Amino acid sequence: MEVVLQEWASLFVRWAHIISAIGWIGSSFYFMWLDSSLKKRKGLPEGAKGDSWSVHGGGFYHVVKYQVAPDEMPEALKWFKWESYSTWLTGFTMMFVTYYWSASGLLIDREVLDLTAGMAITLSILSLVASWYLYDWLCKSPLRTKPVLVFAVLFVAIVAASWGFQQVFSSRAAWLHTGAIIATMMTGNVFFVIIPNTKIVVDDLKAGRTPDGKYGEIAKLRSTHNNYLTLPVILMMISNHYPITYSHPYAWVMVAMVLVIGATVRIFYNRHEAGMHGFAVQWQWPLVVAMSVGLIAFSTWRPDQNEVAFYPTEAMEIVMTHCASCHSSTPTHEWFEEPPLGVTFDSLDQIRAHSSTIVAQAVLSTTMPMGNETGMTQDERDILGSWLRAGAPAE
Ligand code: HEC
Repeated sequence: MEVVLQEWASLFVRWAHIISAIGWIGSSFYFMWLDSSLKKRKGLPEGAKGDSWSVHGGGFYHVVKYQVAPDEMPEALKWFKWESYSTWLTGFTMMFVTYYWSASGLLIDREVLDLTAGMAITLSILSLVASWYLYDWLCKSPLRTKPVLVFAVLFVAIVAASWGFQQVFSSRAAWLHTGAIIATMMTGNVFFVIIPNTKIVVDDLKAGRTPDGKYGEIAKLRSTHNNYLTLPVILMMISNHYPITYSHPYAWVMVAMVLVIGATVRIFYNRHEAGMHGFAVQWQWPLVVAMSVGLIAFSTWRPDQNEVAFYPTEAMEIVMTHCASCHSSTPTHEWFEEPPLGVTFDSLDQIRAHSSTIVAQAVLSTTMPMGNETGMTQDERDILGSWLRAGAPAE
């Protein structure tokens, strides 16, 4: 029963999380575009920076942007904030449902560090809180007047955190946590900085005071970070489906590459939407392609993989010992009444049919067996890998 509940909880929360994230990222991309599409014309109201026309769903929209604020505050003002908050809240709930509920299966890898579920969950939550405080402190430090330097420090800190997570959690959870601390910084920016600062400006205007320009500047620095971090964070969030990403012994190097690739794509769109031409918008894509090829090449370099001699019977025995309790048409493991995801290894044909995913889950990564309950050793993984790569011969 608990498994059924967990499955449904996971599906519903994931559904909500993806919908919120689409709302958040969609609205933020829309406003980025809107900002760069504004044109200054004659006849605009006093204080207007520009206007923009667009067509959607059979109607025409005419949007005017006021640089600081209109003379009079409108009665109804839509704040775009719940898109961000709900993304974080559903994301954290998903972390709970997937990684905390079955911490011994997905969060902890005993070969990495033998943590109890309580310790692992505490570390996970602490890392989210601490990363926000450190990031916030960085943005308020004397470095803040040099945005490029702030960004460089942030980049190194994220890569270092990713390395740190690799020393503590399972490889899959390590990548996800890197994404989670970035996402926490991004929502923290909206919740603790951008919205409160905008409120101060609105209150000043309502009271007839001239708002201090510093609030806008602070919000700008934070929203620039959010802009460049959006694309990498999405990849980190979906990486859990791809052991090729997180299972690498130097997965933190790949995190660094993904950060640079994602940010470079954003640079292109920012410039393109701002109407730039020529070399200013020509260098990004070739660089992105080159770096992506580099990333793929790096992922295939696996100093931890050993080709070894094997006996087919020995390899099949390994599958029986470490996988069959769950992956059988009649699982004997107490958690499962049916084989997880319908994946069964009852016959040699079934094993061959799943050959590449088995390599991904149990050879390239230590994702399976779940939480390494059965204590599968590296030697056994090497034998299994060599056997599968040789086409899983029967003898
Ligand atoms: C304790 C139970 C358990 C054991 C033991 C176990 N698995 Fe799994 N396996 C699961 C669960 C649960 C899932 C579904 C995970 C998910 O939903 O992400 C899974 C999924 C898989 C998948 C499919 C992954 C995908 O996304 O398509 C493969 C392949 C797999 N396991 C291989 C193995 C191999 C190989 C072994 C033995 C070395 C093994 N498993 C041992 C529970 C187990």
